[in-house]
Amino acid sequence: MLNLFKKLSLRPDNFPKHIAVIMDGNGRWAQKRQLPRSLGHAKGLDSVQKIIQYAHEFKIQCLTLYAFSTENSGRPKKEISDLTILFDKTITEESEKIFANNIKITILGDISFFPDNLQKKIQDLLTKTKKNNGLSLNIALNYGGRSEIVRSVNKALSKKKLPKITEKDIERNLDTKDLPGVDLLIRTGGEKRLSNFLIWQLAYSELYFEKCLWPDFNKNNFINALLFYQSRNRRFGKLNN
Ligand code: FPP
Repeated sequence: MLNLFKKLSLRPDNFPKHIAVIMDGNGRWAQKRQLPRSLGHAKGLDSVQKIIQYAHEFKIQCLTLYAFSTENSGRPKKEISDLTILFDKTITEESEKIFANNIKITILGDISFFPDNLQKKIQDLLTKTKKNNGLSLNIALNYGGRSEIVRSVNKALSKKKLPKITEKDIERNLDTKDLPGVDLLIRTGGEKRLSNFLIWQLAYSELYFEKCLWPDFNKNNFINALLFYQSRNRRFGKLNN
């Protein structure tokens, strides 16, 4: 493994603990091939499986994927229902692999948007993987950063009868409360924006924008993102020693 890192010019002592990904470009990938958008999302699922494998290989502790935003709920009904079917099918088909690989699943966002049977399957997956201590795999489903912050503030206010709340109070009530800070954000598809993803958590993350469409994302792209990360001097607003 050390030889592999050396060959790739990667330093083993400086990997991001937490990588978050905006998986953009499924629709364009399909349109370019005159295929329905749903096939772009299905192809995007192959890239999800690949990035989980890379995370294992490079010993990344925590991976957060933006699968469905609160804004995506404004897409045509057919696309939403195709995505819902894909999420459902993925849980059914991948659960055994998730258990066998000791993966712990966390969901960010408000899943009450989805049909009851999918909500039940998700809850079941959360319960069954709760004690796992391998890769922490976090899926943002009907997730929006602004809505998460508002939910967090309301939770904090309901717990604490004080006129003021602090940053710590907000942190403690976010959907990511049990996760480490995000070190590296990868966005595919060529756009350079955050699209309401983890807007609180990305305050000091390194941002890597990749031109390739999500279904085309491969190991070279992943390694380039790691090399970019290792080239950064993270000061968190302070000065170098
Ligand atoms: C954004 O591309 C992608 C989505 C809204 C869906 C992402 C879903 C997957 C990758 C499938 C499965 C995921 C899991 C975790 C089970 P877009 O449709 O906005 O692409 P475009 O910008 O080219 O239109």
